[in-house]
Amino acid sequence: MTDLINRKIILQQRPQGEIRDGDLVMEQEPVRDIRDGEVLLQTLWLSLDPYMRPRLNDSKGYMDPVGIGETIVGESVCRVIESKSGNYSVGDLVTCYTGWQEYFIIPGDAQMVYKIEPKGVPLQAYLGVAGMPGRTGYCGLKFVGKPKAGETVVVSAASGPVGTVVGQTAKQMGCRVVGVAGGEEKCRFVVEELGFDACVDYKAGNLQADLKAACPDGIDVYFENVGGEVTRAVATLLNPGSRVPICGYVSAYNAEDATKVETPFHVFKAMENPPEHRFFLVTEWQDRHQEITGILADQVANHQLKYRETVAEGLENAVEAFKGMLKGKNFGKQLVHIAD
Ligand SMILES: NC(=O)c1ccc[n+]([C@@H]2O[C@H](COP(=O)([O-])OP(=O)(O)OC[C@H]3O[C@@H](n4cnc5c(N)ncnc54)[C@H](OP(=O)(O)O)[C@@H]3O)[C@@H](O)[C@H]2O)c1
Repeated sequence: MTDLINRKIILQQRPQGEIRDGDLVMEQEPVRDIRDGEVLLQTLWLSLDPYMRPRLNDSKGYMDPVGIGETIVGESVCRVIESKSGNYSVGDLVTCYTGWQEYFIIPGDAQMVYKIEPKGVPLQAYLGVAGMPGRTGYCGLKFVGKPKAGETVVVSAASGPVGTVVGQTAKQMGCRVVGVAGGEEKCRFVVEELGFDACVDYKAGNLQADLKAACPDGIDVYFENVGGEVTRAVATLLNPGSRVPICGYVSAYNAEDATKVETPFHVFKAMENPPEHRFFLVTEWQDRHQEITGILADQVANHQLKYRETVAEGLENAVEAFKGMLKGKNFGKQLVHIAD
């Protein structure tokens, strides 16, 4: 046994609706010695992502639910602090699905572990715009949304890591880009810092009229991140031939009964002329992981890709930060800083 103590957040009981005290709790255990072929990682930065909430429910989605007593799933940036594998040296930096914990042991040939060489990119960006959310925005827009120059692209959750990359990539492709975000401050950032053409505050009370004014030529691509009232407003403005990559619908993730939620699929299928729409997963382009990470990291390094982040300090603050993110309290990528 090493002298190290691992703190981790486990699922003690399944949340009914919003996460409450006692649903996700911290536990600790000694870190065992590694065996031949294994690698010991220390978590530096933990990513908090909306997809983690549906995985706390007892229903099978596109991934298995987290089991009671199991560590909450999640990706992090880690440093190798001990290695008995020829594939890793002490000091190597990697992204890895460690879950919400401070130490993690992997076999030296584990899949979905990627070495990173920061080259002017902040480490934590590999969990945000140059990481899984960034690749999601980039691939979902380019390969499912297929925008053409001059078209109008609308993206919801526009100030978050997925929306940030969708909007800036669509601008690079010559589109008119309209964000939807919650609150004046986020909307101002989306236009003034990220360079979108407009941003509609869905909390201001005039969603339908404001969106119509921001999209005088209708909507050709809607990148779906939130569902709910935003989807219903967008649906009325979609042009013939429009495309809707369905990335997620975070407004429903805290629902007490997911089977009763009106999803974007219900909204679009009910239309007389439904847009081309489908759910996609970022892992569809897993074979291009390194190439697309490289494209996005280069854009971060040369300040072409702008973004915000919100940082919670220490694993003990992860649960509150996660609850806040599901209600839009985060401004940009939500992270937990664990160690330097
Ligand atoms: N399919 C995939 O492979 C894949 C991969 C990664 C992420 N995703 C999805 O991509 C979406 C965005 O992820 P992200 O990491 O960039 O998250 P994010 O934007 O950092 O955080 C979620 C945001 O959703 C918005 N929101 C929360 N409740 C809402 C409501 N009731 N109505 C409207 N908006 C609400 C909030 O922004 P506002 O304050 O602006 O409302 C909040 O900040 C999520 O749906 C996620 O599940 C999918």
